[in-house]
Amino acid sequence: MKNIFNHQLINLRRQKQLSQNDLANKIYVSRQAISKWENGDAEPSLEKLINLTEIFNTSLDFLILGHDDKNEKIIEIHDLKKAFDKPVLNGVDLDAYSHDRIALLGSNGAGKTTLFNLIVGLTSKDSGTINSYINNRKDLSIMAQENLLIDNLKVIEQLELSASMYEVEISQLDNLMKQFNLYAYKNNYVASLSGGQKRKLSLLMSVMRPSKLLLLDEPTVGMDLKSIDFFWKYMDHIGGSIITITHDFNQIDKFFSKVILMKNGKIFKNVAVNDIHSHNQTIEQWYRYFNDEV
Ligand SMILES: Nc1ncnc2c1ncn2[C@@H]1O[C@H](COP(=O)(O)OP(=O)(O)O)[C@@H](O)[C@H]1O
Ligand SMILES: [Mg+2]
Repeated sequence: MKNIFNHQLINLRRQKQLSQNDLANKIYVSRQAISKWENGDAEPSLEKLINLTEIFNTSLDFLILGHDDKNEKIIEIHDLKKAFDKPVLNGVDLDAYSHDRIALLGSNGAGKTTLFNLIVGLTSKDSGTINSYINNRKDLSIMAQENLLIDNLKVIEQLELSASMYEVEISQLDNLMKQFNLYAYKNNYVASLSGGQKRKLSLLMSVMRPSKLLLLDEPTVGMDLKSIDFFWKYMDHIGGSIITITHDFNQIDKFFSKVILMKNGKIFKNVAVNDIHSHNQTIEQWYRYFNDEV
């Protein structure tokens, strides 16, 4: 069961304001069992999982994967325009649904990061609409192109800061750092990390809580091969809608459901990955063909 169950359990339990003991009593297990589930050291039986969905009044999908079966619209963008010195976005239309795994492709300067900044609210639009059906503060997570890290904090302090913002329990952090191979650097200053380690730290901060929309801007740039492999494996068991700007063509065929190509300030192509594969093409071949980089 590769999933985000343990995060979901912690969050749902907290929302219901139950202690580990309260929950243990409700479903006839020990408090230690709940603690192991929440630390990711053990998993409940199907029967107990079903008990949990009843207590939290939720679905198995939500409990295990962080999203419901329903493929709901998360965000709707229409005729979005933005110019700096010259026009960057000339009328972008884009919808994202809760099950989407979207790769956002395009040459340098195509406006990909600008689009992310507009969605997040870091940049103001000139015209057009962005309708968000989620609570951006609670349900939107981002890993920016530039790491948003504080150099003179220790790794653990940086993480505790994010954890307090996202209402993630501090007791989760050791486990997460271990998974991300950052535990050995727990007490090192952020400034002393390598580029790839900083990227991993940024990733950890953006995925430490479940989100309904996760925006990742060139997440694997600067990571070594082992970390890149880890990254894509980790992404595989994250729930919610994910839009990733990436040129990591070795991996994206396996992971994404849709690809979007930005060109001349617009969404030039928006295609299901299955369509590309059914024409015996890889995403890289498709991209090179349509982006004139053959
Ligand atoms: N804050 C800004 N001020 C002026 N120009 C900007 C700003 N942000 C982006 N641009 C310009 O907008 C264009 C698109 O940039 P960006 O969205 O970063 O592209 P991408 O992420 O696709 O490489 C580029 O020409 C860039 O120079
Ligand atoms: Mg960019």
